[in-house]
Amino acid sequence: MDTKIKRFTLFLTLIIVSVIVLVFTKKNEKTAYILLNSTHEYQKIALKSTCPPGFKKNEKNECVTVTLYQQYHKNNKAGMGGLQSGLPENRDGFSPQQIDLGRYLFFDPILSADGTISCASCHDPNQGFSDGLATSIGIGYQKLKRGAPSIWNVGFFKKLFWDGRSNNLEDQAAGPLFATNEMGNTPENLLKTLNNIKNYRELFAKAFPTRAITDAIILDEILTSITAFEASLISLNSRYDQYAHGYHDALSAKEKEGMNIFRSFVARCAECHTPPLFTNQQIAIIGSPEPEGVSFDPGAEIPFNDKTLRGGFKVPSLRNIEKTAPYMHSGKFKTLRETVQFYTNGRGHAVPKDEQLLIHWHIWEPQLTDDELDRLVDFLKTLTDESFMPIIPKTLPSGKAIPNKLEISPKNKSHIRKQLF
Ligand code: HEC
Ligand code: HEC
Repeated sequence: MDTKIKRFTLFLTLIIVSVIVLVFTKKNEKTAYILLNSTHEYQKIALKSTCPPGFKKNEKNECVTVTLYQQYHKNNKAGMGGLQSGLPENRDGFSPQQIDLGRYLFFDPILSADGTISCASCHDPNQGFSDGLATSIGIGYQKLKRGAPSIWNVGFFKKLFWDGRSNNLEDQAAGPLFATNEMGNTPENLLKTLNNIKNYRELFAKAFPTRAITDAIILDEILTSITAFEASLISLNSRYDQYAHGYHDALSAKEKEGMNIFRSFVARCAECHTPPLFTNQQIAIIGSPEPEGVSFDPGAEIPFNDKTLRGGFKVPSLRNIEKTAPYMHSGKFKTLRETVQFYTNGRGHAVPKDEQLLIHWHIWEPQLTDDELDRLVDFLKTLTDESFMPIIPKTLPSGKAIPNKLEISPKNKSHIRKQLF
């Protein structure tokens, strides 16, 4: 009898434990894709020894930018002028191994404090290297103040961030890595994490062969690799580019009409969005609005400590613009049509009453018709080119799953990170 009771109790306990385990796993099903798979199965990863498309390897194992635009004269360093004008210098000269290592780092959520978020979470290659949100969402679902810009062609930019506060890609990358509301890491923790991963130690030794293999990974090497990868994201082969190089049938009649409006002294778009990068790399005050309930963004006034730059933002490149809605620093405009409409609604029409902004003289009253605005949108869509899209890695040196994208949960409307790639 006694043993029967014992057996029964054991059986009951087993059932209860199984039920608890089952309920617990069910409850955590949602978190199963929020938290990333943290298996540390190391897969052997080899770095590429060839340069990405758009680069030529020289005898020093450096990848050097090659574009058709190099045949044209540079009117000035920002690349002003007509369709056939030169580009500013790209940040090139990195080795194929550094570029490839940067690709892994860019996609690896191990770089963030809690392993949930990578550069690609906000700069998603499938969304023009932006994130489709009005303003981005960082670690712990913190909402940022501005939208994630595309990073195609960033190697050519001399000013980075919407307010132009950084002037090199290495400094820039340290921004999100160590910002408490973006990836939330610290240099000490990042170095400790990467140095504890054998795969990364080996890969860094391959990418930086001049130092001893046994030396620890240092921060400069991380920032150099990320920069090398970013500077390889070249988009200069759109239908517009084919037209600019002399293939006139690359654009339809409507698109050509749009291009002429874009370059006209009535619309004046090309004065700021100057080809070939479609930015003159200047700060301009255009008086674009904030979404309802969001306080005024002083823009470049803050980093440059200059009141005359209040409300000023870096003129963004318009390449792949079709892919990166919503638009402007605040993501205020959902479509390209709404964005171009802004320019014809009257100089300063969206500036808050208590602000006195020094609006740029090229922002005026072009009185564009609906047809002309449609043609502008047609033209902007000819600037799409993703032919040098990098390959998204299938496995990461950290053993983490490939990042995860923010989505709104249909159930409770909260943000969840979902694995997409
Ligand atoms: C949480 C989302 C988020 C993450 C993660 C993130 N970024 Fe960004 N990124 C942004 C936002 C938002 C901006 C614009 C911020 C501003 O201008 O104030 C930006 C700006 C940039 C720019 C400037 C582009 C330009 O044209 O000025 C670059 C380059 C960039 N990020 C690269 C990176 C890299 C490299 C990483 C990973 C180390 C990274 N980002 C991680 C959201 C993110
Ligand atoms: C005085 C310089 C200037 C002129 C002229 C100008 N822009 Fe802009 N443009 C900017 C600046 C600066 C921004 C970013 C402003 C912001 O984020 O608030 C911008 C943003 C944009 C964007 C959104 C980019 C993005 O990544 O979200 C589009 C599209 C655009 N402009 C198209 C045009 C068109 C079309 C014209 C001509 C009708 C034009 N611009 C004229 C300076 C200019």
